[in-house]
Amino acid sequence: GGKMNYETIIFEKKAGWALITLNRPDKLNALNKQMFDDLDDCFKLVQHDPEIKALVLTGSGAKAFAAGADIKELHESDGITGSFFSAYGSNVMKRLAQMNIPTIAAVNGFALGGGCELTLACQMRFASENAKMGQPEVNLGIIPGYGGTQRLPRIVGKAKAMELILSANMVDANEALRIGLVNAVYKPEELMAKVEEFVYLLLSKGTLALSAAVECVNASEYLSELDGLHYESKVFGRTCGTEDFKEGTKAFLEKRKAEFKGK
Ligand code: COA
Repeated sequence: GGKMNYETIIFEKKAGWALITLNRPDKLNALNKQMFDDLDDCFKLVQHDPEIKALVLTGSGAKAFAAGADIKELHESDGITGSFFSAYGSNVMKRLAQMNIPTIAAVNGFALGGGCELTLACQMRFASENAKMGQPEVNLGIIPGYGGTQRLPRIVGKAKAMELILSANMVDANEALRIGLVNAVYKPEELMAKVEEFVYLLLSKGTLALSAAVECVNASEYLSELDGLHYESKVFGRTCGTEDFKEGTKAFLEKRKAEFKGK
């Protein structure tokens, strides 16, 4: 284990996984430049730490995951700095989206604008009953700038994404569940325990197989179906060369539980 405090986030290394808590609760964890810097540093650290086999993101306080990009900072932008603002944040989100380990957003309240986009850059979203999600940017005269127009349609479909982005309407947790925006909904006081339980379920599997699966499912977003199938076969072959594969299949044949080593 171990805990590291950045200026705007808290990083905690747990047994086999890590937790990042967005930590500007008095501003509903709004994402300012410093938070993007901190997240980028932290994501690099996670990427390069072989002991971290899953990553969870959440927000501090009872009200918000993150209520969006910091509107005070954003207000200073113009046509030129605005595109840098978006490109910078978008790259941080990309670093998260491209991680080869399972990533989960524990959505503990408002996830709006950039906050919603940060959850979209995670592979899975678990929400508390009080979660409210949406892309309210058009209310500010702008559009989602951290991947919302690209990732939201892939998750909920084009028509629903269009509705959410054009109307700026928020969805509550149950509606988010219904449209496939979140994987599950729990009582606020149970959210983190349920997420942890799920993380430990994943960690009980062969972690090389997990990251191989993550790699292939992620690749489905940018490869054609045909290229994706080739890619899958290649990575499948790679998993067949692991000790975990020998152990997993042997354990099945011996009618016992597999003991994976991540090798
Ligand atoms: N950027 C900067 N500050 C923000 C923020 C944001 N995106 N969202 C909330 N805050 C700040 C508020 O300004 C307030 O700060 P203050 O106490 O110094 O005045 C504090 O966080 C608490 O927010 P408040 O609006 O008082 O809470 P609320 O419960 O009344 O409303 C929301 C909650 C989420 C509905 C409301 O904060 C909101 O609409 N936020 C902006 C959402 C948005 O448009 N995000 C997209 C940005 S691109």
